[in-house]
Amino acid sequence: MTTAKRIALFNAKGGCGKTTLAWNLAMGLSKRGATLLLDADPQGSLGYWADWAAEADGHALSVQSWSEQSAGQSADFAYWVIDCPPSLESAETREVLAMADWILLPVLPSPLDLWASQRSIEVISALHAGKAARNAAFVLNQVESHSALSRAAESAVQAMGLKVLPVQVARRAIYRNAAIEGKSVYQMGKRATAAVQEFEGIIEEILK
Ligand SMILES: Nc1ncnc2c1ncn2[C@@H]1O[C@H](COP(=O)(O)OP(=O)(O)O)[C@@H](O)[C@H]1O
Ligand SMILES: [Mg+2]
Repeated sequence: MTTAKRIALFNAKGGCGKTTLAWNLAMGLSKRGATLLLDADPQGSLGYWADWAAEADGHALSVQSWSEQSAGQSADFAYWVIDCPPSLESAETREVLAMADWILLPVLPSPLDLWASQRSIEVISALHAGKAARNAAFVLNQVESHSALSRAAESAVQAMGLKVLPVQVARRAIYRNAAIEGKSVYQMGKRATAAVQEFEGIIEEILK
């Protein structure tokens, strides 16, 4: 019996892109194998997309809330993607972080957002003590490629004691537009090519 590879999107800071990354990552992974997208955020933003996902052609993607998942279903999926609540202390966060194979922390390239991520790193580091095999990394999100702030953020983030994924997610209107239409960037055609490439890059990194 194979077990699913479980990828958590976590950062106690709200608005850094957890839900956006979880949704697009799950869509990309579902092209490779059956994928379960779990919404551990009691606000349940992913729930709105669940019905649509069920209809998506050629995508073996199921969306469920963290509380409705059933024991043993891991075997039915190659991948789990878990959207965490913006909370360090909640039971959901603790449960998810304890079982994830990969923890991705989206972070915006701004000093305030970097500082606000410090506690999240501490929680992950504490969890990793003695479990060195676990993978955790920052994903810089909403990067504006020519901005000095983005470049400065990259080195600041590297100094914070957590790996930084070599692939970054740029600030692109297509991410918002796709969400408005209930779609991922994988369903947005040619104008989303660069965005899809970003997610394919992230997937390559986490499946290495
Ligand atoms: N790379 C991006 N480019 C443009 N807009 C983005 C990007 N990532 C996220 N957003 C937007 O930023 C807002 C916050 O993202 P969200 O995924 O809801 O964050 P979180 O789940 O961490 O609270 C949303 O309106 C989303 O559409
Ligand atoms: Mg969210």
